[in-house]
Amino acid sequence: MIEKLVEIKEFEKSYGERKVVDKLCFAIKAGEIIGLLGPNGAGKSTTIKMLTGIEACDGGELFFQGKKVERSRDSIKRELGLVPQDIAVYGDMSAYENVKFFCSLYGFRGKELESRVQEALEFVALWDRRKDRPGKFSGGMKRRLNIACSIAHSPKLLIMDEPTVGIDPQSRNYILEAIRTLNKRGTTVIYVSHYMEEIEALCDRILIMDHGQLKVDEEKEELKRQYRNEGYQSLEDIFLKLTGISLRDEEE
Ligand SMILES: Nc1ncnc2c1ncn2[C@@H]1O[C@H](COP(=O)(O)OP(=O)(O)OP(=O)(O)O)[C@@H](O)[C@H]1O
Ligand SMILES: [Mg+2]
Repeated sequence: MIEKLVEIKEFEKSYGERKVVDKLCFAIKAGEIIGLLGPNGAGKSTTIKMLTGIEACDGGELFFQGKKVERSRDSIKRELGLVPQDIAVYGDMSAYENVKFFCSLYGFRGKELESRVQEALEFVALWDRRKDRPGKFSGGMKRRLNIACSIAHSPKLLIMDEPTVGIDPQSRNYILEAIRTLNKRGTTVIYVSHYMEEIEALCDRILIMDHGQLKVDEEKEELKRQYRNEGYQSLEDIFLKLTGISLRDEEE
């Protein structure tokens, strides 16, 4: 039996009158790379915020390695790494101090802390720029620093919310390769992106959300196989069909 790392049961969230996550359920096996897709406003970031404890759930439960997790998520914080959609680094501290700060939040100190910071900065190819402040960095370098801050404590589950927005193809390839390497070392990944070629290149299984609900939960190759027979050749075609913006329908 393959171990479930995370299980979300009936997550719910409303902002005012608007229900943005609606009885959402899914599970993630240890070692997977999950692609979480959905149109703008589908509820992806809200779901991630509830999973990590940044936002409180209105309803629902979270299980981590089979155990129910309390609302604060404090007991699993050490196991989670989050690359937020909006870059969250401190502009007035060096790259080194940024990674050190985030890693120290997980209790690391002394030599262990220093070696983790170095490893994370080397991993995203920013060790040479460690003394610079992120204010001097390009967009892609800030994104890479954002990633270093989220992996230095070696989380079991790495959640990346659109980590490659606005970066050049070289940095993008670098980041994708880095994610594959982390995954090979045992990190489970939830990857949110609007770039279908990234999802195609990286993910084992696809979750598609729309209007706060799960529309699809399927192995990537199986999803493609199912729709190929209906003439949908690419993930993008399938995504557009399933989220109701089918160009095909308009043509008919
Ligand atoms: N703090 C907030 N207060 C009020 N409404 C919010 C808040 N955060 C999100 N929302 C609303 O919740 C809905 C879902 O937003 P969310 O950020 O989860 O979408 P998303 O799927 O991540 O979209 P995107 O692809 O644009 O990042 C949207 O309608 C958004 O306006
Ligand atoms: Mg989002």
